[in-house]
Amino acid sequence: METRLQAEDIQKTFILYLQGGKKLNVLKRVYLTLGAGECVALTGPSGIGKSTFLRVLYANYKPDSGRVLVFHRGQWINTVEADPYHILDVRRYTIGYVSQFLRVIPRVPALDIVAEPLQRLGLSPDESRLQAQDLLRRLNIPESLWEVSPTTFSGGEQQRINLARSLIYPYSILLLDEPTASLDEKNRAVVIQLIREAVARGTAIVGVFHDREVRETLATREFDVSTEGTE
Ligand SMILES: Nc1ncnc2c1ncn2[C@@H]1O[C@H](COP(=O)(O)OP(=O)(O)O)[C@@H](O)[C@H]1O
Ligand SMILES: [Mg+2]
Repeated sequence: METRLQAEDIQKTFILYLQGGKKLNVLKRVYLTLGAGECVALTGPSGIGKSTFLRVLYANYKPDSGRVLVFHRGQWINTVEADPYHILDVRRYTIGYVSQFLRVIPRVPALDIVAEPLQRLGLSPDESRLQAQDLLRRLNIPESLWEVSPTTFSGGEQQRINLARSLIYPYSILLLDEPTASLDEKNRAVVIQLIREAVARGTAIVGVFHDREVRETLATREFDVSTEGTE
């Protein structure tokens, strides 16, 4: 199994300025090696640091120590030390991230938001939109909404737009933070199927799957972010 990502000795402490500088030691020496075709489910109670760990892997948060090595365009890059240009490049070509909330530019139609990753990579606007349509259809987003900005969509619809935007492009690594949390049973099944297809293609996934059934269906192994590693 080819390694896609390696997190080493990750420590992250938050300083709570509003509480007199109190320190919150969330991640303590976390080590994770992630291979192609693996789907690692982060486990542990709410507030333990699962979302924080995903944000460190996506280089949203800088850890206090450690390295995040990502196999990006044929080379290893440590995103903890990389400059913003390289981090954007990693996000463009290598790592997709589905956060719990959709953040989109107002007024851009759903279809264009989903097609954007393909267009950015050089596919024609028509071809990008055709592929986006296929995905939106699979995800049961009604055609009447395709030209509407998702800012007014329901939680479940927004979540599916978020997923579509990350599943449309074959990222080698996907980070998923509770991707099925706001979905009904039918759409949850569609999303599980899409994620399984990604894993079968060799995508390496780290996810938080709130629903035990989803976790048991998708995860190739579980990982507790609160255990300290000693590699
Ligand atoms: N930006 C931040 N500033 C301060 N504290 C934070 C920040 N992000 C997360 N935390 C705290 O870190 C802990 C872990 O949060 P989180 O990673 O969201 O947990 P989980 O996803 O496992 O529920 C929580 O106590 C949370 O309040
Ligand atoms: Mg969380």
